[in-house]
Amino acid sequence: MSKFNFLKCFFIVLISNYYLFAADIKLPAPDKSNQTTLIKTLENRKSCHDFLNKSIDNKTLSTILWVAYGVNRPDGKRTIPTAKNGKDLDIYVFNENGIYLYDAEKNLLLQKSKNNYLNLFNKQPYMKDVSNVLVYVGSKNDYAVMHAGSSYQNVELFITANNMGSIVRGFFDRKEVSEVLNLPKGKKGKRVIISQAIGYKNN
Ligand SMILES: Cc1cc2nc3c(=O)[nH]c(=O)nc-3n(C[C@H](O)[C@H](O)[C@H](O)COP(=O)(O)O)c2cc1C
Repeated sequence: MSKFNFLKCFFIVLISNYYLFAADIKLPAPDKSNQTTLIKTLENRKSCHDFLNKSIDNKTLSTILWVAYGVNRPDGKRTIPTAKNGKDLDIYVFNENGIYLYDAEKNLLLQKSKNNYLNLFNKQPYMKDVSNVLVYVGSKNDYAVMHAGSSYQNVELFITANNMGSIVRGFFDRKEVSEVLNLPKGKKGKRVIISQAIGYKNN
């Protein structure tokens, strides 16, 4: 085989592998039609400890992620306030199809793993029926923690307004999750901040 043909084969294999293994998801546009009032939503917000074993469709997931950290203005700024406009928050979605990183600008879920790692969050019995867990990851900067708090509260409110169920969860092994996500280590690395189970409440 000539050197040229060898290189051609090499690149074809490389490109086809990318398309074969990276099952990124182009999300539908978020649904902004909910008319519930903010006051009513605040009145009803509470953590869910009893979930239905039901997955979340991509339209709803797209809306939840937009609510959490989506772009809401032409200049690229987000649904949450961010210190110095620093976009130092990453939101990962864990579900039965793998792990995805939310790309807010492209409204895309980038697949990071094809493996189901929901078991990493199963330390409390009600978690057995949870179909999706959001994991908030940030820089080691204090502000990243605040950004995660703003984000998960936005999600709590959306979930309440849509009669779904969610709970913020710190009871999981962050080190284990960091390893699965292969987060960069060291001073300038990233850390797992908090998780949030989302789904449908059983009532
Ligand atoms: C940062 C944070 C971490 C939490 N971690 C857990 C957890 O690991 N497990 C759990 O069952 N609830 C967890 N919760 C939920 C709280 O227990 C819950 O918000 C609190 O009991 C008040 O109830 P409410 O959300 O229904 O008002 C957490 C909440 C926050 C804000």
